Amino acid sequence: MSSLTQSVAWQSLTTLAQSIKGQHMRDWFAADPTRAEAFSLSACGLYLDYSKNLVNRQVMDALFSLADERQLAAKRDAMFAGEVINHTEGRAVLHTALRNFSGQARHVDGQDVMPQVLATQAKMKAFTQAIHNGEHKGYTGKVIRHVVSIGIGGSFLGPKIMSEALKPFWQDKVKVHFVANVDGSHIQDVLKGLDAQETLVVMSSKSFTTQETLQNTLTARDWFLHSGAKQTDIAKHFVAVSSNVKAATEFGIAEENIFPMWDWVGGRYSLWSAIGLPIALQLGFENYLELLQGAYEMDCHFQNAPPEKNLPVIMAMLGVWYVNFFGAQSHVLLPYYHYLRGFPAYVQQLDMESNGKSVTVDGEWVDYATGPVIWGSEGTNGQHSFHQLIHQGQVMIPADFMLPLNVPNQDNTHHAMLASNCFGQTQALMQGKTYEQVLSELRAKGLDEESAKVLARHKTMPGNKPSNTLLFQQLDARTLGALVALYEHKVFVQGVIWGVNSFDQWGVELGKVLGNQILDKLQDREASLGFDASTNQLIEKFRRAQNGH
Ligand code: F6P
Repeated sequence: MSSLTQSVAWQSLTTLAQSIKGQHMRDWFAADPTRAEAFSLSACGLYLDYSKNLVNRQVMDALFSLADERQLAAKRDAMFAGEVINHTEGRAVLHTALRNFSGQARHVDGQDVMPQVLATQAKMKAFTQAIHNGEHKGYTGKVIRHVVSIGIGGSFLGPKIMSEALKPFWQDKVKVHFVANVDGSHIQDVLKGLDAQETLVVMSSKSFTTQETLQNTLTARDWFLHSGAKQTDIAKHFVAVSSNVKAATEFGIAEENIFPMWDWVGGRYSLWSAIGLPIALQLGFENYLELLQGAYEMDCHFQNAPPEKNLPVIMAMLGVWYVNFFGAQSHVLLPYYHYLRGFPAYVQQLDMESNGKSVTVDGEWVDYATGPVIWGSEGTNGQHSFHQLIHQGQVMIPADFMLPLNVPNQDNTHHAMLASNCFGQTQALMQGKTYEQVLSELRAKGLDEESAKVLARHKTMPGNKPSNTLLFQQLDARTLGALVALYEHKVFVQGVIWGVNSFDQWGVELGKVLGNQILDKLQDREASLGFDASTNQLIEKFRRAQNGH
């Protein structure tokens, strides 16, 4: 058994889970009128109601004891102090330095990184302003109206989803288009209809080795040169964000057009670096700074609030409770706000790439579940499809509901309907509807006894399904920054509990290597195949199709 599952706190949580399993949340609400208030808190513009969870004070205390046993505070401080906590890659984890408004130094290897962080932000600001005020022109003197942002994973999801979430605050100086997939349809669709003379390409790749991003940039460059531009015009239309400045210059990006980032910023934490340039271009630099400011406020909250008042710690420990003591294998995110519809996909990378691990930092195999499957989509759409399984299925799926209390320029009726659906769902999940209630309703409707008994089973709602509800006044840049940082720290806390390295991603490497080997065989159709029979067969089929058979 691992040290985690042997720990005192783990053992007491195991016992507590047994006793909780026989109880129902609706009885707790009936018995305690203070429950909602007792299990709610606000921080950084976010209000969390976690009263509809399978917890009581004793459980929460035991969860905090577990966090304490796992030395959460010391590990959190080590991250903020720039220690090399990503030990498999020998790197510090200091994305928090990118949104550090304290005026204090942040050190990596004994060196203060703040001067380079601030210098890069100044460069981003100047560039954004030059694009917006028309000072930076294209090669024929036209102002830039379109930006094509090329990147994938963290170099795509953050910029795209945060820009989308803040649509009501866009400055319509430029329109940013995002391309990630190496599927040529994506870039073709985006470039179609754009005028190269008024288009800027931002190539975002921390490593500058990512196949999809390199290929899409080559395609964009061909498109640009075919529009009549010369090689020397590229400098006005192509910029890159990368920690690999050497590779970017070798690729042909002028050195002054490279926005640096650093290896102490993980890909899925990079929107706070110059990878966020497309956000600044879409929203204006001031709004981008607000996003950073919101995240900084959450950093301060995470560092300073005691566990029982600490949003990321509470949400993380609730997640651990369900994954490890109730067998929950997934967690659904349900933003009731159209512009936040991409958020589940953002957290998917953040959480699953961070905590989808099987080995502890000490190199031991884990004997407990780690990161859950993260999924979800915007409310109310999901209510008309997958909510059925959350309500009546056999698996437990804890849910996070999110709702802005106000939306700019929107019809009140729509927003009231949206909110009522959100609240109604959390209520239905918690309270359910008993067999007896349903049966008496069916009898009252005059259904014969036998049919009523059968139908009542189908219509019974078990309830007792956990959910969090996150409310905010409106989703402005500052609130969004806090929301993203909340989930970042939640994932960090869970990684500490499970003892995994949340900052590497070795699991994605093998597929890349094999994909490259296969690409060689697809391009050289005569080459012999030495893979397994299934893979050989798939390659043969592809080759035949390419030959027109
Ligand atoms: O393959 C996974 C990954 O490395 C992610 O962690 C990262 O966000 C993405 O690819 C893109 O990487 P890069 O910014 O280096 O192109």
